[in-house]
Amino acid sequence: MKICIIGAGRLGSTLAYTLILKDIVREVVMIDSRENLAKGEMLDISHGTSLSGYTRVKTGDYNSVKDAGIIVITAGIPRNPGESRLDLNKKNVQILKDIVKDIVKYNKNCILFVVSNPVDIMTYVAYKTSGFERKRVFGMGTMLDTTRLRSAIGSYFDLNPQDVDIMFLGEHGDSMTPIFSLASINSIPFKDIPGYNKEKLEEIAEHSRTCAAEVISLKGGTVFAPAIAMAEIIESMVKDKRQIMPLSVYLEDYYGINGIYTGVPAILSKDGIEKIIKLPLNEKEIEGLRKSAGVIQNAVNDLKEEGFIE
Ligand code: 2OP
Repeated sequence: MKICIIGAGRLGSTLAYTLILKDIVREVVMIDSRENLAKGEMLDISHGTSLSGYTRVKTGDYNSVKDAGIIVITAGIPRNPGESRLDLNKKNVQILKDIVKDIVKYNKNCILFVVSNPVDIMTYVAYKTSGFERKRVFGMGTMLDTTRLRSAIGSYFDLNPQDVDIMFLGEHGDSMTPIFSLASINSIPFKDIPGYNKEKLEEIAEHSRTCAAEVISLKGGTVFAPAIAMAEIIESMVKDKRQIMPLSVYLEDYYGINGIYTGVPAILSKDGIEKIIKLPLNEKEIEGLRKSAGVIQNAVNDLKEEGFIE
């Protein structure tokens, strides 16, 4: 499988590096207007491939996307300390539109995997701009947030975080909502795990919701956890593992939510989003998800009112 990554910045290059280490794809092409940066990252990564499994690491222009199976869009202006992801909305919408228009010139059959923030709105922009069927346009959604939450809860209980099962749903942003009612560790409800403390777990969820801002203030941006989550999503598609993941997908009548992209559980296959799963949420969780969807809808409406999208 050939993967193209639009954006060879810290995140795009770290994703390329992670994909090589996991040895799951045979060709990775980084595309960035900063040609020297892309070339430097490509050379630095490719020098290690004799020890990591044979992946052709390249740089290219948009002509390179023509036979890519998956195109990952990481490009865009990143958050500054103190900014919300939504603050990037009008800064990144034109960048996203231009990227997708360039992709579609050469490839109308790929899967578009959007990471650029605010990801739920940027995925909607990519969907509208590409004209692709919905199943082939999705965003990282709350997969990264869920990964952070599971890691933190595993650490709290001092248990393997890979056994922790809980999701954030909704906006990849300040309004995301944790789904505690269905959470467990290997099918054991949290309340039956030694050390359970409801308030502490809610504190952990709150910290997981905002911890990216802490990383951004300390090191200027988040890179490693996003790259790990992105590589997991790509591996799942490449190996057609048919996993359920909380991704930003187009909703129609999901607890009354219509016509936007946001993070809910979906079955992911080699062909993209196979099916959206409607969770049996409690009233508080439904309210949180609907509130989050409202935040996204307002941001999309802003772009429509200013003529960025139809
Ligand atoms: C994050 O949560 C950058 O939105 C990305 O790390």
